[in-house]
This record gives sequence, C-alpha cells and structure tokens, in this order.
Amino acid sequence: MAFKLNSVVPWGRNMEEYMLMFRLNENDLSKKFAGFGDGPACFNCEMTEKNGSVISFDPIYQFSKEDLEKRIEEVRVIVMQQMSENMDNYVWKNIKNLDELEFTRMSAMRKFLSDYEKGKAEGRYVFHELPNRLPYDDNYFDIGLSSHFLLMYTSLGYDFHIASMTEMLRVCKEIRIFPIVDLDADKTVLTEKVIDYFKKDCKVEIVKTEYEFQKGDNKLLIIKK
Ligand SMILES: C[S@@+](CC[C@H](N)C(=O)[O-])C[C@H]1O[C@@H](n2cnc3c(N)ncnc32)[C@H](O)[C@@H]1O
Repeated sequence: MAFKLNSVVPWGRNMEEYMLMFRLNENDLSKKFAGFGDGPACFNCEMTEKNGSVISFDPIYQFSKEDLEKRIEEVRVIVMQQMSENMDNYVWKNIKNLDELEFTRMSAMRKFLSDYEKGKAEGRYVFHELPNRLPYDDNYFDIGLSSHFLLMYTSLGYDFHIASMTEMLRVCKEIRIFPIVDLDADKTVLTEKVIDYFKKDCKVEIVKTEYEFQKGDNKLLIIKK
C-alpha cells in the first residue's frame, strides 16, 4: 500500500531531547548513528553541525520540502489542540507550558526543513520504510535509534516489529528504542513479547531516563548483539 503523507503526524524533537531519551553523552557523538523513523526531528541536522555522523531513514523523505512544510503546518494546529485538552497527561518540567512546547517543536522542525534538501543530497535523509532491507553491510552503524515510533504504534503488530528490529540489528551493533509504552503511555504486551524474542540471542536492557514528557514514558530499551 502506498505511504500517504496525510496519514503521518510529523512532529520532531531536537538533539537535546535525543541525548536525554537515548542516554547519549559527549563520548557517543563520534559514533556512527542510524535514526529510524526520524521524520522531521533535527538530531541529524544538529549532529552534522557538530561533525557527527547520522543517517536518518523515513518514508516521509520521499516527499518534497514544500509538501512536508505544508503537512507540518496542518499537524501543528491539530496536535496543539489535542495537547491543550490533555495537559494532565504530561510532565511540564523541561518544557514548561504549551507555548514553549509549540516553540520547541516548531524550532526543531524548521531546523530540519532548512537542512532537508542539503541532507538529502548528502545521503543523510534516506527514503526507506522498515522492515525493508537496507543497503548497508552488517554492523555498518554503531547505534540505531528509534524515537516515538517502534513499540508505540502497537497496531503495526508483532511481526512488523520483529522484522524491523532484526533488520536494524543487522546493520547496527546496538539499537535503542524510546519510549517502550504505547501512544497512551500504557505498558504493552507487544513490548514484553519483543523483549522475550530478542533476549534469546542478544543482551537486552531497560534503562530509566531523565527524559519524561508524557507521564510514564521514561524508559529506554537497549538491545546489543
Ligand atoms: C511520531 S514521528 C517521530 C519522529 C522523530 N523520531 C521524533 O521523535 O521526533 C514517527 C515517524 O515514524 C515514521 N514511520 C512510519 N512508518 C515507518 C516505517 N515503516 N519505517 C520507518 N519510519 C516510519 C513516520 O513517517 C514518522 O516520521
């Protein structure tokens, strides 16, 4: 089935948030990263400015800058309305209020947009849909990241997750997934089953994060081969 832009909610986070969610430190910045479902996050852009190495993969990278810009504007209004109706579900600590949230997200996405065409030309934003095979050798990347994508959208199902994470683990020495709860920040059977599957052959850890925006999403899954 063709991937439709109007079915996606592009909502991007920044490098500071990626560092906290994935428990990355200054020493990690020289590593080779792959970002799966990076969408309009500006981790790639900010890392590139610091001479870091990130390749982001997402089906939305098949669209033009203008198409993405338009969809981001449409989504901004809808998401901000939903957030204002559900403020109690969030921790207003790092981000203090709705205005700051909108400013932070829009700044991240504008940064992404300003880097998008250059990054595409440099091969840093790659149109790819998991669980398809990636054109990279085994262990090409040090760390593969998935922020607010895998494990959250439980409707994608168990088989999709196993196939996607198996391919990620083929090209990455380790993968990190945040958060490990669903869209309502509830624990899921999917996460339990996925952990059971990878525990057989990999080292699996769940680590608490300082980052918590939606109440309850403060755990990171790390899988190492
Ligand atoms: C909620 S956004 C998260 C964006 C970014 N990771 C962040 O946290 O700021 C989820 C992203 O997953 C992407 N996505 C959806 N299906 C995908 C697939 N099969 N493979 C890779 N990415 C996918 C969407 O296009 C979207 O950009």
